[in-house]
Amino acid sequence: MHIFKDVEPLKSFLKDKRLKGNTIGLVPTMGALHDGHLALLRSSKQQNSVTVCSIYINPTQFNNASDLEKYPRTLDSDISLLENASCDVLFCPDNHTMYEEKSIVQFDFGYLDKVMEGSFRPGHFSGVALVVSKLFNIVLPDNAYFGQKDWQQYTIIRQLVKELKFGFNLHAVTTTRESDGLALSSRNKRLEGAQRQKAIVFYEGLITAKALLIDREPLSEVKATVKRIVEKHPETRLEYIELVDSQNLKGIYNVDEADQPILCIAGYVDEVRLIDNMFL
Ligand code: PAF
Repeated sequence: MHIFKDVEPLKSFLKDKRLKGNTIGLVPTMGALHDGHLALLRSSKQQNSVTVCSIYINPTQFNNASDLEKYPRTLDSDISLLENASCDVLFCPDNHTMYEEKSIVQFDFGYLDKVMEGSFRPGHFSGVALVVSKLFNIVLPDNAYFGQKDWQQYTIIRQLVKELKFGFNLHAVTTTRESDGLALSSRNKRLEGAQRQKAIVFYEGLITAKALLIDREPLSEVKATVKRIVEKHPETRLEYIELVDSQNLKGIYNVDEADQPILCIAGYVDEVRLIDNMFL
């Protein structure tokens, strides 16, 4: 695997690959890699002749300093995982490379970044849009891969790619789950002992909400049931559960109001914040 920390050597390496007729797949990550990331890599490897994984913990998307500080950093084991997965290129820049000077550019996605994650994490999606735009411009991919677990992020990046005419294909890859249903997430590495078992409440909440909504239970009662499920442990707390149209993130009250409704959930196990979602 070729490892690049700087932009120009990576760009000239990829330019050469492109001139030789290769297609390039990009898998942007913040490291602490797990099987969910490997699923993104597998999709990229199936559809492109060169796969670039980026690992960069992007400070501008953290609205909480302690979340940034405690974000798991596991570069050595990430490199082994990527090598075993036959990733072709790793781009792992430092802060100076990505933000030579303090950034003043802000993105506003209107409704898309005001709801759910956007309302609890102000500025988060602006930071995500900024860093992925930089990565898109550096790598110039033919395809880029993101996890379905961050559906709101995927929706916002889809808007960004469309409006700014980046001109490549964007792919959402199905969420990978543990055998008990917990969605894989880098933040799961922060769950210790009994916290890990308790984190399953978000998946239980989604499964129950889906069944109740299909049975025509009113949304307000479904939300109250999910709150009871999630908050059955003193350590677990529901931040939100929303039923939205997956295409525009507008809230809906029942499953017939959208072609592809999605339930999105967020909450805490002690101070570890987790999100998940489920299509209906
Ligand atoms: O989903 C993530 O890991 C991050 O938000 C991303 C897309 C790599 C941008 O930093």
